[in-house]
Amino acid sequence: MPHTVSQQVLRIRGVPRLRGETDVPGDKSITHRALLLSALADGSSRIRGHLESGDCRATMNCLRALGVRIVPAEGAAHEVVIQGKGLRGWQEPDDVLDCVRSGTTMRLITGLLAGQPFYTVVSGASQLRRRPMNRIVTPLRQMGARIEGRQSGRFPPLSVLGSALHGIEYVLPVASAQVKSCLLLAGLYAEGQTTVTEPGPSRDHTERMLRARGVAVKSQNLRHTLTGPVARLAPLDTIIPGDFSSAAYLLVGALLRPDSEVLLRNVGTNPTRTGLLEILERMGTRVSLLEQRDQGGEPVADLWVQSQGLRGCQVGGDIVPRMIDEFPIMALVATQAQGTTQVRDAAELRVKETDRIAAIVKGLRALGADIEALPDGFVVNGPTPLHGATVDCEGDHRVAMTLAIAGLLADGETTIVGADCIADSFPGFVDRLRALAEGALP
Ligand code: S3P
Repeated sequence: MPHTVSQQVLRIRGVPRLRGETDVPGDKSITHRALLLSALADGSSRIRGHLESGDCRATMNCLRALGVRIVPAEGAAHEVVIQGKGLRGWQEPDDVLDCVRSGTTMRLITGLLAGQPFYTVVSGASQLRRRPMNRIVTPLRQMGARIEGRQSGRFPPLSVLGSALHGIEYVLPVASAQVKSCLLLAGLYAEGQTTVTEPGPSRDHTERMLRARGVAVKSQNLRHTLTGPVARLAPLDTIIPGDFSSAAYLLVGALLRPDSEVLLRNVGTNPTRTGLLEILERMGTRVSLLEQRDQGGEPVADLWVQSQGLRGCQVGGDIVPRMIDEFPIMALVATQAQGTTQVRDAAELRVKETDRIAAIVKGLRALGADIEALPDGFVVNGPTPLHGATVDCEGDHRVAMTLAIAGLLADGETTIVGADCIADSFPGFVDRLRALAEGALP
């Protein structure tokens, strides 16, 4: 399974301001789920506006290896047709399923494989093989799954010999939509009730999308229940909203670069994802949500943002899972805010694509920021001017994009090593930045 090591260098120079409007690519979390659930439906589904990124390609290729046909829709760009094989129609793959660098692919698909009547091995790039899988292996084994992995199931590759599952009542030790989703998906095949209780509100796309396909998922506060085994999933055509987590980089660029004004069209605003907007409000600034609407069961809006002054704030508790992917870019915001910003309760950042606390502290410090790591977060004193430097994003797309936005604010040139990983979640990031910077030219 050869994987290329991230090599590409991205050079960024400060821009006077960002102006104009743009869309952002489709939501990564929703794309993964739309692909997986369509592949399990009885019949064909169309997905429009799906994210065509490295991580989502990994999910598509795993599904193809399981015998699912996915083809571009005729005459429609950015649209695919998936011939669902039904909940029990996947075939045993003849090789290892390669999740590349995508933790969501691995954790969600393993939940589904646990109840299939065949044998699979799931693996991926070295970066993914370092990420903890005991968080899904332990509860799946309690459901009756037969799963092995390196170091007693702690790390991939994982081997799964499908078996009869039974529902369990499970309390997640940390809020994680990937673990919650893995268990609910395994619950489709399990006898009786599968109940997952989360300690805090993580993204709820799986629950919404299962309901839309006819599965009765009951959610009461943080407790989610479904009763299996489920006979069938209805096919459904889906339009994927723009990814809020991608929009966050452009939004922060416009917020921090004086005299900027940007409109981001068609962005998902599911409240389990938009914790950053609440934090920005606490920091004294406001992003306007225009044309708020519903698109395929998800709230969507156009985000309008203007550069504004900010003050430091405290972040911790329940808001953390609702902005878990936005902490790298939020750290950059804090470097430009007046006073101290402290983030706590975010130790999960240490087990993302890289240790995001360590990587962001190292990268932003190299650019001149006053930032210290904490075991479960970081402390930033601001505002500090930033200056160009050469920084390594450690193969992490969110660290790379944060450092790129930092480079827009810095004096001189910022060089980001390994920036090709940006395409794991946001292909077209640099082109959009360039267009917004050009939009600001007189
Ligand atoms: C995701 C859940 C989050 C997030 C990741 C995508 C998902 O991870 O960081 O980028 O699609 O379910 P956790 O579930 O580990 O918090």
